[in-house]
Amino acid sequence: MTNKYMYFIANWKMFGDLKSLKSLDKVIKFSKSKNIGKGRLIYCPPYTLISSFWKKFKNCQIDIGGQNCHESENYGPYTGFVNSRMLKNIGANYVIIGHSENREQGENDKLINLKIKNALKAKLKVIFCIGETLVEKRKKKTQSILTKQIKVGLYKIKNKSNIFIAYEPVWAIGTGIVPKSEDLLKTIKFIKSKFKDKPPKILYGGSVNPHNIKILKEINNIDGFLIGGASQSSKKFIDIVKKTYT
Ligand code: PGA
Repeated sequence: MTNKYMYFIANWKMFGDLKSLKSLDKVIKFSKSKNIGKGRLIYCPPYTLISSFWKKFKNCQIDIGGQNCHESENYGPYTGFVNSRMLKNIGANYVIIGHSENREQGENDKLINLKIKNALKAKLKVIFCIGETLVEKRKKKTQSILTKQIKVGLYKIKNKSNIFIAYEPVWAIGTGIVPKSEDLLKTIKFIKSKFKDKPPKILYGGSVNPHNIKILKEINNIDGFLIGGASQSSKKFIDIVKKTYT
């Protein structure tokens, strides 16, 4: 059983509308109960819902993040985009950067590095996603891929205290498959070994649910979870937190 602070980050992706707000009542109640243990809850809804979530969470400890941001620190003629200053301005304290679903759309490590730098400047905490694809895993390239993603993604960023690394193997996202415990333990250890000083907090993401959390929580070098599908159900999200602490 763990007794440390753990981060539970709900990544709602492109789901949710105003009707979804009602479902948060359960989570708000839970966040005020002692069952939350040392859990820290963060919701990353689509941009359209950030303000509504902020109002909803005003009197509780649940934090809010964006799911991505534009790389420019200034406002500008970028139709359809939002930058980190704008996120901070409407109440977000976190932002997910480098998610594989955005990498698939063409985001590369250099661009991700720029986004992270400007998000940190805007005083956001960054959830920096890394992970290998199935093909890369089969070719035994996991470590070299992670090394490159970390090296380029965090290039010239000295102070890493506001960075969380989310290890999300691409083949585990939305598939119901999670890595074997011994492999995950080894990979998290490997990621930590890339930092000379104190490593950032490391989260795991990819098909986390109320069933497999019992196994995942035993991996003692993990500081929390990035949860997609299961986080859209308040019941499942609460169950994941509860089961981490029992
Ligand atoms: P999943 O998504 O939990 O639905 O696998 C995780 C993520 O993409 O962050």
